[in-house]
Amino acid sequence: MFSATKFFFLCLWGIIMLGPIHALVHRFEVRRSSHTRLCTKKSMLTVNGQFPGPTIYARRGDLVTVDIINLSDQNITIHWHGVKMPRYPWSDGTNLVTMCPITPGNRFRQRMILSDEEGTVFWHAHSDWSRATVYGAIVVLPPATESYPFPKPHAHIPILLGEWWNADIQEVYRNFIAEGRDPAICDAFLMNGQPGDLYLCSTQDTFRLKVEPGKTYLFRLVSATMNYIMFFKIAGHNVTVVGTDGSYTKPLNTHYIAIAPGQTIDFLLETNQPPSHYYMAATVYASGADYVPTTGILEYVGNYTPPPSPLLPSFPEIEGYVTSIYFSNKLRSLASDKHPIDVPINITENLFFVLSINLWPCNTNSCLESDRLQASINNVSMIMPQTSILEAYYKGIRGVFTPDFPDHLKRVFNYTQVSLERNESHPHYATAVYMLDYNATVEIVFQGTILGEGIDHPIHLHGYSFYVLGSGLGNFDGARDRPNLNLVDPPFMDTMVVPKNGWTVIRFKASNPGVWYMHCHFERHQTWGMKMVFIVKDGDRPNEKMLPPPPDMPRCDTPPQELLFRV
Ligand code: C2O
Ligand code: CU
Repeated sequence: MFSATKFFFLCLWGIIMLGPIHALVHRFEVRRSSHTRLCTKKSMLTVNGQFPGPTIYARRGDLVTVDIINLSDQNITIHWHGVKMPRYPWSDGTNLVTMCPITPGNRFRQRMILSDEEGTVFWHAHSDWSRATVYGAIVVLPPATESYPFPKPHAHIPILLGEWWNADIQEVYRNFIAEGRDPAICDAFLMNGQPGDLYLCSTQDTFRLKVEPGKTYLFRLVSATMNYIMFFKIAGHNVTVVGTDGSYTKPLNTHYIAIAPGQTIDFLLETNQPPSHYYMAATVYASGADYVPTTGILEYVGNYTPPPSPLLPSFPEIEGYVTSIYFSNKLRSLASDKHPIDVPINITENLFFVLSINLWPCNTNSCLESDRLQASINNVSMIMPQTSILEAYYKGIRGVFTPDFPDHLKRVFNYTQVSLERNESHPHYATAVYMLDYNATVEIVFQGTILGEGIDHPIHLHGYSFYVLGSGLGNFDGARDRPNLNLVDPPFMDTMVVPKNGWTVIRFKASNPGVWYMHCHFERHQTWGMKMVFIVKDGDRPNEKMLPPPPDMPRCDTPPQELLFRV
């Protein structure tokens, strides 16, 4: 007999089976699992044994709960990159900024509070260099009653770019600190966890995507790489960019994409080419270097004889140092009635942040050279505290940070032309935060320098997206450059590139009270100190204040062991 109870359980079963699509509670077990790439097997930290980790599907405005259970032998924190977490920095997951780490054997229930994000963001570990293996996509769909600002795609395809080291990432990290120079170059780049068949031992597991002809696919490209800006391209196809960092853009037709660590790009692919096999490939944005691209294969279904080897795309040439912003400078937000923008016009906080690679004398013989590389913002190289800055701020614990991060660099020089003397390139070390009043309107001009090493910096801000008003080369010159800033339809991003020997201007309104980290998303630069913290104060009204912490906040009583050299 088909009883009501049975019917009920069948329905329940249906809900469970559909779970991965819209489950709002997830269980993330952080543990070691074995994975083999390039014929090398290693044990590494993952979530639920998966690499890349699970994709979270949600809808705009959802509240997603994720139970993080640390079954590993290491401290861990998990960060929702690109999720603004209104009034709730407690679950932002930034080691020693918003929390003390989840120690082995412990757990933490995190709330991922989606607000206006729609598109793709991602999650990753945010303690030491664990994010190399601990990351996954977050797909934010429109609410059930709404549609996309483009034709409904046939399918969603997350593509995550990453890096693989045959060695344990903690060992790469330790050697990097000891040697005082760049870290060991990864052994492979990865597309959805696989190097692709241009690498040894990788053909079998290469990421293959079967597509039907005459359809539109929505690709959700995430850069979870550690240290490189990448070019991405699909042979024989143009694509249409429709979003970045969880926010829509005006459609941009292009034959390639440049994507920095911490960025996401949503694009549409029309399967309108002759049925065949085509490479999807990503390679390092660098001139004159020969990195092996990571590849996947786009396979049209149908009756045809595939070529012996798919067509490999050719990548753009890097002319001078223009290209990294050449792509991002073309992004525009929709700025429509349905997707309006709100660029702050009257600015109350004018910040000028100078980004430098610095040198510091090395006092151990593990260093490869007499100086170690360091990095700074306004010549302040951030020292991580021994406890959570958020907790110290909330509880009024003194001595953890100082509220005096400089709003500009005291020493003015020709940033992009004159390299200072060695000893003038020393940063100063501090745990300084910049205090912002609730609803302050903030403009930051980021100025790159040629100090130490002129290089691009993908800067990421927690707790906010910001409008990117413009980027250019050389020293920012207000009289010349301000008239060209885009106040009409600037893209709304959480990570943007400050080009090598150039500048970028962003604006945001400090309407999210909390403690928010800002840093270069090149892992090596972050470790070297290119990072700082904004504390956005509470407003007067009840709904303008930070929410209280959850009861299971990881305790700060065991001093976390951050790997540090002695200043
Ligand atoms: Cu992608 Cu501070 O993070
Ligand atoms: Cu950087």
